[in-house]
Amino acid sequence: MIKKAVIPAAGLGTRFLPATKAQPKEMLPIIDIPTIQYVVQECVDSGIEDILIITGKGKRSIEDHFDRNLELEERILEREDELWYNELRHIDSMANIHFIRQKEQNGLGDAIYYARYHCGNEPFAVLLGDSVNDSVIPITQQMIDAYEQYRHSIIAVQQVPDEKVSRYGIVGGKFLSERIMQVEEMVEKPQPAQAPSNWAVAGRYILTPEIFAAIEQTPRGKGNEIQITDSLRIMMQTEGVIAMKIEGRRYDIGNKLDYLKTTVDFALKRKEFAEPFVEFMRQRVQQWDQQHK
Ligand code: UTP
Repeated sequence: MIKKAVIPAAGLGTRFLPATKAQPKEMLPIIDIPTIQYVVQECVDSGIEDILIITGKGKRSIEDHFDRNLELEERILEREDELWYNELRHIDSMANIHFIRQKEQNGLGDAIYYARYHCGNEPFAVLLGDSVNDSVIPITQQMIDAYEQYRHSIIAVQQVPDEKVSRYGIVGGKFLSERIMQVEEMVEKPQPAQAPSNWAVAGRYILTPEIFAAIEQTPRGKGNEIQITDSLRIMMQTEGVIAMKIEGRRYDIGNKLDYLKTTVDFALKRKEFAEPFVEFMRQRVQQWDQQHK
């Protein structure tokens, strides 16, 4: 059983400057909900209530968001706004959330290493704090189900068009079923000709506790950081690693264009916005077409 999740959220977010100069990218709202609240909700929807968030310098607002705000609660109660009072109380009681600070931004592998005492000898889920999903079954739940079957570390992957493989970590290997691959190769941002497949790493992992020993053996890699893909490559040689194709859509809010696309898709799913928003976009697209023909 997977009972714990780790959410790395300590990165600098340089691709989203200047918005991330003084606020965490994980707190950027998708409409009105901070990205990391969706990530915590995915844990809860997958049956995980023990969550460790890896934070760092400049990330205090993440802790504040999941804490109570008594002054605000009082004001809202004075206005007899029960709906919002309940919503506020929901946020601080969603899960048992713990925090630890990554002292230097030495990469995702280093961030996950901070979870070693919290997770001890248990397998755990990792959900990147800047990535959200839209799926019928939560992606983390899909991965927990696969872990029950294979008992190895699992990487979530999604298929990307061949011409886009150079933007992602790509895995290759032997197909065990339509959605499952025994990983034999992992290449960071390959040229299409060198890519072993078009299965791209997608921001969710299940890791066995052996990952911590692998991280200790991992030298600094790309960007002079400890890369979790390098640690997983070590695991590939020892206990084996599985890749699982996710069923659903993944959104990476860490870059500006994908953040915009995420906001649009999430707005279209909200009853109160969908129609007026589509109407607004229709007009804008028409104007844009006229101006650019
Ligand atoms: P990214 O690869 O997007 O890195 O991290 P980044 O540093 O945050 O962003 P850029 O590239 O400078 O724009 C993926 C996830 O891993 C966390 C991030 O917070 C993000 O949620 N992370 C990354 C850490 O917790 N620590 C690190 O040292 C690096």
